[in-house]
Amino acid sequence: MAIREIRKEGDEILYKKCKEVKNFDNKLHILLDDMYDTMKKNEGVGLAAPQVGILKRAVVIDAGEGLVELVNPVILEESGEQTGSEGCLSVPGVYGEVTRPNKVVVKAQDRNGNWFKMTCEELMARAVCHETEHLDGKLFLERVTKFLD
Ligand code: NI
Repeated sequence: MAIREIRKEGDEILYKKCKEVKNFDNKLHILLDDMYDTMKKNEGVGLAAPQVGILKRAVVIDAGEGLVELVNPVILEESGEQTGSEGCLSVPGVYGEVTRPNKVVVKAQDRNGNWFKMTCEELMARAVCHETEHLDGKLFLERVTKFLD
């Protein structure tokens, strides 16, 4: 386990599309473990692989309900709406109001390649949307309607 360097806004790797994870091997497990440690150390709610310089479709989230690892996540359904403050470990110190679905259903693989489906609400739904967008090279900044002090 190790803390990895978090790539910051402006780093070209954050704007690239990530590749599907095909090997559910020890290298992936180490990446996920390191991402979790890095997220915790920086007091984040979620972290996507490109934020530590790896262009793979993998994210970790802990929105207060324990660790969730999503590999190759796909959002299947979105419903409702929530508007609230959002930030990102790649854009330190910047917070903005972002509107997201209040509920999402996501399917993903776990670290061993098993598919599962999860229904997420509120902060968890926000985190799933935010982190999944990182995998497509998008930062939350483009969705901010109002920057907050
Ligand atoms: Ni982020």
